[in-house]
Amino acid sequence: MSIDEIENYETPQYDFVQLTKSHSDLKPFFNVISNKLELTSESINLLTKYILADEFNIKINLLPHHLCPIIPSRVQYLQIIKSVLLECGLIIKDERIKGLDVGTGPYAIYALLAHKIFNWEMICTDIDEESISNCEKIIRSNGLDRFITIKKSEFYGQEINEKFQFSLSNPPFYESKEEMDRGYEFKPYKIQVKGTNSELIYGNGGEVGFIKKLIDNSIDFKDKIIWFSSLIGKKSTVGIIIGYLKHKFLKNFFIKDYQIGNTKRWIVFWSYQNYRAIVNKSFFKDILITSINIKLNIIKIETILKTFTPYLNYHRDDDGDSLYITCYNQCWTRQFKRRLKFENKIACLESEKSIFIVTPDLIRWKFGSSYKTFQSFYAFLQKNYKE
Ligand SMILES: C[S@@+](CC[C@H](N)C(=O)[O-])C[C@H]1O[C@@H](n2cnc3c(N)ncnc32)[C@H](O)[C@@H]1O
Repeated sequence: MSIDEIENYETPQYDFVQLTKSHSDLKPFFNVISNKLELTSESINLLTKYILADEFNIKINLLPHHLCPIIPSRVQYLQIIKSVLLECGLIIKDERIKGLDVGTGPYAIYALLAHKIFNWEMICTDIDEESISNCEKIIRSNGLDRFITIKKSEFYGQEINEKFQFSLSNPPFYESKEEMDRGYEFKPYKIQVKGTNSELIYGNGGEVGFIKKLIDNSIDFKDKIIWFSSLIGKKSTVGIIIGYLKHKFLKNFFIKDYQIGNTKRWIVFWSYQNYRAIVNKSFFKDILITSINIKLNIIKIETILKTFTPYLNYHRDDDGDSLYITCYNQCWTRQFKRRLKFENKIACLESEKSIFIVTPDLIRWKFGSSYKTFQSFYAFLQKNYKE
C-alpha cells in the first residue's frame, strides 16, 4: 500500500433503502417521497442493530436508554487507527493486533467492529455495571470471548500485563447536566441524544477533563501501549489538549480529523515511543510535520549515502523506488566529520536511532526521538539533491 493510499479514508456508506426493505420496523421512519430515513433516537437504535446484523453478522441486545453508537463514525475512527499503525510499520504479517477500548459503552462497539473488520483482539473497560453486563452477554452470544475481554475498571484498568499497539476512547462529552441540556442534540441529525449520565457527563471537566485524565494515566502504560488515542468532539478542545501534552513534556503527538455529514471530529494520538505517523500538514500549532513533499534524485542520494557507513545504512524497498535510511548520528554534518577526526570512532546508540524514507517525491520521518535530526537530514538533502 502506498503512502497516499494510507491517507485516504473512505466514509462507510450504508444502503438505508435496502435496510428499510429488509426490516419492517424501520418503515414508519422511511419517507418514500424523499427516499430518506427520518433519524430519531428510535430509528438510529434500529439502524445500528440492523447494520451490525446485516453487515457484520453481529447480534446485539439494545438498551434503548443508553447512548446509541452511530456505526460509520466508529468505523472511521478504527480506519484511522489502522492507517496510523500501517504508517508506523506496526501491522506486521502474522502479528496479532491488540487494542484497548476505554469506556466501551453498552455494546463494546469499537471492539466488535475492530474484530469483525480487521480481526483485532480487544480489551475493553467501563465503569457502568449495566453496560459491562450487556457487553459480556453480546460477546458470549456472538462467540467472541476469545477475542474480546470486558473489564469493569476505570480508564486503562489496573493490572494490564499485555502489550497493545493502540488504545482508543470516546469520552463523555459534557461537564454537567446543565451544559448537556443546553447542547442536547446530536449535531449531524439535530436529534436529542439519549444516554446515561456516565456516557454523556464527566463531572471533572467534560471531554477536556476526561482526555487530560487519559493523558495523566497513560504514563503508567508507556511501555505497554504504543499509540494512545482519544476522540475529540469539540474543536476548542483540540488546542487545550495539545497544550496539555506539551505541558506533560510529550514529544510525539498529532491530530487526525474526519467528517461525517456536516460534523467534524478530531482524534488525538500520543506515544512515549519513537514511531512516527505521517503528518504532512497541520491546522494546529505545535504538531510536528513528519512528511515533506520534495522532488529528489534518489540515485545521486544513494551514491553519497554509501560514504556514511557504518553511521548510516540504507536499502531500497521491495518495489525499488523508496530508500529506507537508518542512522544514529547526524553523520552528514560538518560537526560530525570534525568530531570523527578527533574521536576516530563514534558510538551508534539505539536511543539515537532515526529512520527516514526517501522517495523521488518526498522525505518522511518514520522513527526517532530527535526532530532536529530529521530537520537536519531534510536540509542536507534539500541543499544537495533537489531535482
Ligand atoms: C461517550 S460514551 C462512549 C461509549 C462507546 N465507546 C461508544 O463510542 O459508543 C463514554 C463511556 O465511557 C464510560 N466511562 C465514563 N467514565 C469512565 C472511566 N472513568 N473509566 C472508564 N470508562 C468510563 C461511560 O460509562 C461510557 O460508557
